[in-house]
Parts: sequence; structure tokens; C-alpha cells
Amino acid sequence: MKTLTKEQIEEYQQYFESLYKDPKIKRIEINDQHRGSNTYLHVCKVTRLAYKLAKRSNRKVDFKDLILGAMLHDYFLYNWRLDTKKLVLHGHKHPRIALENARKDFEINDKVANIIISHMWPLNFFIFHKSYEAFLIGVADKCVSTREALTSQKYKLKHREEELSIIFTLEDK
Ligand SMILES: [Fe+2]
Ligand SMILES: [Fe+2]
Repeated sequence: MKTLTKEQIEEYQQYFESLYKDPKIKRIEINDQHRGSNTYLHVCKVTRLAYKLAKRSNRKVDFKDLILGAMLHDYFLYNWRLDTKKLVLHGHKHPRIALENARKDFEINDKVANIIISHMWPLNFFIFHKSYEAFLIGVADKCVSTREALTSQKYKLKHREEELSIIFTLEDK
């Protein structure tokens, strides 16, 4: 379990804020994810969970790479549920498209690039996680996606306010 200083917590929260308020990232709000959830809320949830997992672990983590990778892992910029052509093999293809888009719009290093491209492992079996951060985001993405897929739209709408009150903070209140 890591103990982050107050300054570090503030720094990571500000970095997260700069990303979720970024108009380029906010564009993904119009894209459906799983059952009544959109891609923007999805990546914020994945970021929170990956951050929590990273804090609980004893291994060294670059929190800024972790946060940037989590926020951009689904930066594919199309609504796969409405586009029948994109629906085909979306699960396999979208990490590469997300990476191409992320490279155009953001400065990303090799670690962040691998976080994005490998997040669907083991579906894309030969694209492995090359860092602990990539592994954590792979786990967080699967947990959040499974929960989104299994939760009814009715329940999500009922708890939307509650969800929105915590989704933009890395630390639990
Ligand atoms: Fe994805
Ligand atoms: Fe995802």
C-alpha cells in the first residue's frame, strides 16, 4: 500500500482534471459504451479504479502515465453501436484506432502507447502489456466493463447523480 503525500494527491487530481475537462476528451461523451454508459464516463471510471489499484500495490507506478493511458485507452472517436461497419470486430480494432487518434491529439510516450494498444488483452492475444501500469488498466477496464454490462439501464439512471458526484475525484471522500 502506497502512502502518497498531500502534494502528490493534489498533483494527480489536477492532472486528471486537466484531462477530463479537455474538450478533445469530452468529445467521447457522445459515444455509447455498455448499456446506458458512455465512453467518457467509462474512461473516468477506469482511471479511478486503476488509480486505486495502483495505490494499494507496493510496486512502483508512474501515476501520470497511468492516468493519461486510462483516459485515452478508448479514444476511438466513433459510436460503434450506431455504425454497423465499425461494430464488426470493434473489440479487436479499437485499441489501434484509439492509439492513432491519441498520437494526433496528445503527446504520448511508449508506455502510454502500449497501455492503449494492449488494453484488450487477451482478446488481442499477441499484444501484451509491457508495464505494470498497462496491466492495472487492463484489469480496471475489465472490471468496469463487466459491471457496466451487467447493470441495468434503469439502475444506472437511478444512481446517475450519485455516480457523477464521485466520478471526477480520484480519492474517495
Ligand atoms: Fe476498449
Ligand atoms: Fe475501456
